[in-house]
Amino acid sequence: MNQIKIAPSLLSADFGCLRSQARLLEPLAASFHVDVMDGHFVPNLTIGPPVVNRFRQGVEKPLDIHLMIEHPRVYGPQFDIREGDSITFHEESADSTPETIDALRGTGARVGLSVRPGTPLDRIFRWLDRIDLVLVMSVEPGFGGQAFLPDALDRIRLLRREAGDELQIHVDGGVHKGNVRAVVEAGADVVVAGSAIYSSPDPVMAIRELISVGSGNPAT
Ligand code: DX5
Ligand code: ZN
Repeated sequence: MNQIKIAPSLLSADFGCLRSQARLLEPLAASFHVDVMDGHFVPNLTIGPPVVNRFRQGVEKPLDIHLMIEHPRVYGPQFDIREGDSITFHEESADSTPETIDALRGTGARVGLSVRPGTPLDRIFRWLDRIDLVLVMSVEPGFGGQAFLPDALDRIRLLRREAGDELQIHVDGGVHKGNVRAVVEAGADVVVAGSAIYSSPDPVMAIRELISVGSGNPAT
C-alpha cells in the first residue's frame, strides 16, 4: 500500500518559530504548505517573500506556496525557489492567468492553480495542460481550522476524470483523521493539514496518524 503524502500547513504553526515548527515534522512531511495572504484577496494577512525566503533556509523538504493574493504575477517571482517547490495561485485573482503561469514558470517552480469552493471547476480546465497541480479548496480560503466542505470530494473526482493521472491534486482545508481516507480515495495526491497537526498537543503523532489512516490502515 502506498503511503500518502501530507503537507503540513504552517498557517496553524507558531509563526514565532516557523523553522523549528517545520523541522519537527520534516521526517514525515512530504512538503510544507505555506499560505500567503494579502488582506485583499482574502480577509486575512500572513507572511510574504522576505519571511518565506529566510524560513526556507534550513528546511530541506519542498515548499508548496499557496498565494491567496490579488497580484500573484507581481509577487510570485519574489520567492526563492528550489527544485521540487511549487507556487499555486487563484484563477480569481486580478492578474491574467496565462501571464501569471508564465511568470511563475520562470521561477523554476512547479505551477498550480486553485479556485474558491464556489467557483465552477471548469473555469480552470482550459489551463490544465499548462500547469502541474491543482489545489482543490475544501474550505473558503482565508483561515485555518474551518470545517471540511463535503462537495470537495466530488470536485476532486471530477478533476481527476478531466485531467488524467499526470496532474497532481492537492486538497486544502478541514482535513483530519476522520475524513483523510475519503479525500485520498477521491483522488488526492497531496493532503494539506494545518490545525489537525499543529493544534494537536503532539504534532508528530498527529501527522503520523494522518499518514497511517490516509494510507488505509485502521485508526489507532
Ligand atoms: C486556508 C488555507 C489552508 C489552511 C488549512 O485558507 O489555505 O492551507 O491552513 O488549515 P486547516 O487544515 O486547519 O483547515
Ligand atoms: Zn492553503
